[in-house]
Amino acid sequence: MTSAILRRQLDRAYPVAVGGHGIYIRDSGGKRYLDACGGAAVSSLGHNHPAVIAAMRAQLGRVDYVHSSFFSSTAAEDLADDLVRHAPIGVSHVTLVSGGSEAAETALKLARQAAVERGDSRRINVISRRQSYHGNTLGALAVSGNVPRRRLYGPLLFGAHFTEPCFEYRFRRSGETSEDYGLRVANALEQKILELGPDTVLAFIAETVVGATSGATPPVKGYFRRIREICDRYGCLLILDEVMCGMGRTGTLHACAQEGVAPDLMTVAKGLGSGVVPIGAVFVHKAIHDAIAAGSKTYFHGFTYMAHPLCCAAALAVQETLRKEDLLGNVQARGGQLRRLLDERLGEHPNVGDIRGRGLLLAIEFVSDRLDKTPFAPDQKVFRRVSDAALDHGLMIYGMGGTVDGYMGDHILLAPPYIVRSTEIEEIVDRLEVAVRSAIPS
Ligand SMILES: Cc1ncc(COP(=O)(O)O)c(C=O)c1O
Repeated sequence: MTSAILRRQLDRAYPVAVGGHGIYIRDSGGKRYLDACGGAAVSSLGHNHPAVIAAMRAQLGRVDYVHSSFFSSTAAEDLADDLVRHAPIGVSHVTLVSGGSEAAETALKLARQAAVERGDSRRINVISRRQSYHGNTLGALAVSGNVPRRRLYGPLLFGAHFTEPCFEYRFRRSGETSEDYGLRVANALEQKILELGPDTVLAFIAETVVGATSGATPPVKGYFRRIREICDRYGCLLILDEVMCGMGRTGTLHACAQEGVAPDLMTVAKGLGSGVVPIGAVFVHKAIHDAIAAGSKTYFHGFTYMAHPLCCAAALAVQETLRKEDLLGNVQARGGQLRRLLDERLGEHPNVGDIRGRGLLLAIEFVSDRLDKTPFAPDQKVFRRVSDAALDHGLMIYGMGGTVDGYMGDHILLAPPYIVRSTEIEEIVDRLEVAVRSAIPS
C-alpha cells in the first residue's frame, strides 16, 4: 500500500491498526495481535480502557486547550497533585510535557537553571552512561549512550560525558560479587567527576532500569545508593529516567523505590498516559524549585502543549485506575509468572544467554554460545528474526540489536499491559517459544 507517511522503514509494509481492546490490537485485514510489549512499553492499561475514555470525554466538554502562560486547568492541577502526592521523597512539584524526550530536555534545562540560580554557572558537564537512551531530540540524544541512534547525528550533539553502565550479565568480572561490581561501576562516576572537575559537573542521568538499549537491565543492589552518595558529595544532580521503567512498570510506582534512593529530577512518560495521550512529566525536588523561587522566579522553558488538559485528564484516570484495580499488585504477580514461565520454557535454550528484568519489563538476551556469552554476528539480525517470527504468530514483542555495546548483541523486550491476565501470560510464552524455536533452531 502506498502511503503519504514517512515510514520508519521505507521498504516495509505496515499493517493498519483499526481496533484495540485489552491487550489485543486488530488490523484492517482482520488479523489479531497480542500486544506483549505495549508498543514500546507504553500501554499500561491496555487498549481502550473505559475509565480513561470516560475521563477524556468529560474533559472535552470542559476546557480543550489553554496556554500555560495564561491559565492553569483543573485537569493539570489535579494530575500534578496526584503525582506529587505519590512521588519519591523530596519532590515538591512536577512539570507536564508531551513525552519522554521533552521530559529529558526539560530535566537537563532545569538542572542548568537551578545551578545558575545558585550562582554555580560553571556547572555545564552532564555525565551519562554507555548503553542508555534518554530520547531522540538533540539534547536528549546528546546524553544518550545508544550508539545506533546517535551515529548519524553525532556532529550536532553537545559534548556529554559517558561512564560505565551497570550491566551485570555482561560486565561483572568472574570472582567479583554483584555488590562489588555495583560499587566499582558507581565509583567510575566519581572518577569521571574528578576528571572533569567537580565544580563543573551539572548532572548525572541514568535509567533506573535500562529499557530498550540493553534490554530490561536492572541495577545491582547498592549501585544507586552509592551513586546517590557520589552525587551528593560533589553537588551533581541525579536525574533518573523512568520514562520506560517508571509509573508502575517494574511493580512499584517508581522504579527508584526499589533502590532506596530519590532523585533530584526524574522523567516519566509512556505508562503515565498509557499511550492513550502523549504525555510526560518531570518530577522536581523541592531544593530545585526553591533555588528558582529564591532567584529569578521564572521557569525559563516551556512548550505550547505542556499540561494539555485532555492529556492530563487521561493521565489522572490512568493513575486512579492503577489504584482502583490494584494493578501494581498485578504487575508483581504477572511479572513473577512471566519470569517463571520464561525460565522454564526458554531458560535452557542453547541460545538464550540471560533472562532478566523487573515486574512487567523483562528481556531475553540471545547468544551464539551460552558458556562464553558470545553474541551472534550483527548481520544475522537475530533480534529481528525472532520478533518477525513472533509477529507472524500474532505476537508483538520489541526486538533490538546492539545489546552489548551498540554493535553486538540481540535481545527482545516483553512489556505487556499491567491488566494482563494469567491465561494471557501463558499465551505470550506459548507463542514466544514457537517464535524463538523457529527463528533460532537449536
Ligand atoms: C528510557 C527512555 N527515555 C526516554 C525516551 C524518549 O521518550 P519519547 O519517545 O516519548 O520521546 C524513551 C523512549 O523509548 C525511553 O525508553
